Amino acid sequence: MVKLAPSVLGADFSHLADEIRSAEQSGADLLHLDIMDGHFVPNISFGPGIVKTINKLTGMYLDVHLMLSEPEKYFESFAEAGADAITFHIEAHPEDPSPLAERIHKLGLQAGISLNPDATPEQVLPYLHKFDLLLVMSVFPGFGGQSFISSTLDTVRAAREYIDKHSLKTEIMVDGGIGPDNAAEVARAGADILVMGSAFFNSDNRSGLADLTHGL
Ligand code: DX5
Ligand code: ZN
Repeated sequence: MVKLAPSVLGADFSHLADEIRSAEQSGADLLHLDIMDGHFVPNISFGPGIVKTINKLTGMYLDVHLMLSEPEKYFESFAEAGADAITFHIEAHPEDPSPLAERIHKLGLQAGISLNPDATPEQVLPYLHKFDLLLVMSVFPGFGGQSFISSTLDTVRAAREYIDKHSLKTEIMVDGGIGPDNAAEVARAGADILVMGSAFFNSDNRSGLADLTHGL
């Protein structure tokens, strides 16, 4: 079964509590929370305060995607805010990211590593055994509502092959430009979890999207 992670960046923030409740009631599996610093990416989103608010609104698993130049400075803040997983980018830490995975694990959270569409799988594959999640970006991070970059499916396939070959438990999450039209293709390439921002929150049939994803 493929899991669905609505990205709260696509929600209507003037009705945040209703949006979170609706995501939970749709049958979606976890919430994806995009944190942007205006430096690593050319946009600013929200910080630990909003994550804490969301944590009070729901018991859902909170998957925090850090698009920050110095992610390690904020691990504690997001852990205290209620994150269940923290993912950071290999582009922010091109050297061995394993010590940072250990720091996240010591906080009692799952650890994820992400890579941009122009990265090569080889940049992260050697470290995957240290991570619970691999977040493959299928758009350049920074904004919701962008078009899916299909060449990133090669990275998903390469990661799937590596994870299966080495019997790793790392789950593959794919993020950016995913909706009902391409969900099956992304799942076929080897994704375990699909992130959907605008496609989910703009839909009037959110539980249909959860059912569709679960059926892949
Ligand atoms: C992009 C974010 C994504 C984004 C996905 O920087 O990391 O999680 O919210 O939104 P859609 O599904 O609209 O591309
Ligand atoms: Zn994201």
